[in-house]
Formats: sequence, C-alpha cells, structure tokens
Amino acid sequence: MKTLDDHALALLFTEARSHNGWSDRKVERDTLLRLHDLVRMGPTSANCSPARFVFVESADAKAKLEPALSSGNRQKTMSAPITVIAAYDTAFYEKLPELFPHADAKAWFTSSPALAEETAMRNATLQAGYLILAARALGLDAGPMSGFDKAAVDASFFAGTTWKSNFLINLGHGDPSKLFGRLPRLEFEDACLIA
Ligand SMILES: Cc1cc2nc3c(=O)[nH]c(=O)nc-3n(C[C@H](O)[C@H](O)[C@H](O)COP(=O)(O)O)c2cc1C
Repeated sequence: MKTLDDHALALLFTEARSHNGWSDRKVERDTLLRLHDLVRMGPTSANCSPARFVFVESADAKAKLEPALSSGNRQKTMSAPITVIAAYDTAFYEKLPELFPHADAKAWFTSSPALAEETAMRNATLQAGYLILAARALGLDAGPMSGFDKAAVDASFFAGTTWKSNFLINLGHGDPSKLFGRLPRLEFEDACLIA
C-alpha cells in the first residue's frame, strides 16, 4: 500500500497553517493551471463539479473586491498575490449531460431547487477544501476567509450570471511572522463516534 510520508503529511496537514501575511513572490499562471488540474479530480456527487473559481490577481479586480472585505481581512487580502473567490454555479446541473452522461441526472435537480442548492453548496465547499490542500501540495500557502459581504461580491463579479460566492482564499507564499498562534483541535473522543 502506498502512503504519504511524514514530510508530505506535514505539508498538507500537521504543519500547514492558515496564513495572514504574504511575501511578494508571484504565483505563476502555470501553477494555477496545475492547481485546477488537481482540484477537478476530487470527488463530487454525481461528478457534478459545481465549484467555480475566480483568481483575483490584477489591481483592478482587487479594487473591486476591497469594499466587500471585513476590516480584519482587508490588509491581508489586498497584499496577497491572489485571492480566490471560491464560488459555485447554481445552474451546475446544465453540465451534467457531459459530466454524468449515463443517467438523466440533470432532471434530479431541475425538479428540486432545494436539492440543487444543497448539492451545489455541499460539493462546491468540498472542492474549495480540495483547493486548499492542492495549493499546499504545490508549495503554496492558503488563507481561507468567510468574513466578507457575499451580496457585494456577487454584485461586483457575478451580476447577470448563475454564479454565487461561497468563501475567499488568499493564495501565495505566506509570511510566517504574521501567523496567529496555533489553536487546539478536538480529540478523537470529542469529535468522533465509532458506531
Ligand atoms: C471557511 C473558513 C472561513 C474563515 N474565515 C476567516 C476570516 O474571515 N478571517 C480570518 O482571519 N480567518 C478566517 N479563517 C481562518 C481560520 O480561523 C483558521 O483556518 C483556523 O483558525 C485554523 O488555523 P490554522 O490552519 O492556522 O491552524 C477561516 C477559515 C475557514 C476554513
């Protein structure tokens, strides 16, 4: 059985951190393509792949994002080389004939808006989690944030589309001096049951 070694586990989990400060080092375009190549392989229900990602990099796009940021997230986001708007397509089911061709999966969702919304949110959030881990695997650092005005981001970036924002993820090479202290995690007995 092949498993990851301790170095890889540290990079992905045990020593990886949520970053608040960034070096000036750019994130190459090729790295973003590799990142998406990894993210898209993570599992989603019926292969529905509802996540959509906007890589906010230019000064103009950052300026569009700025008014939507909570005050505590403003400085770190404006200084990050890239901020990902992790979003989802509420009409994700339009791609199911291509993504899940052996069944009429589109009909499951067009017949139930509530199921469509729940499915989009669940799977897009999973995919954004895959993105955090994929970024770490490629040597980047990530800083996820939900402290922003979703309606404002949707109006600025997604007006007239079926896309909606979920959360933001700063990407780049983190500045370890800006990390907050590591917080405790739950023990197995507090978070898990074996049934
Ligand atoms: C979905 C999500 C939203 C978050 N929102 C914010 C935020 O708005 N501002 C912030 O400073 N940190 C935010 N965080 C960072 C968390 O506080 C951080 O991941 C957690 O404390 C664990 O830190 P560590 O990964 O360094 O151990 C968020 C994390 C996640 C996953």
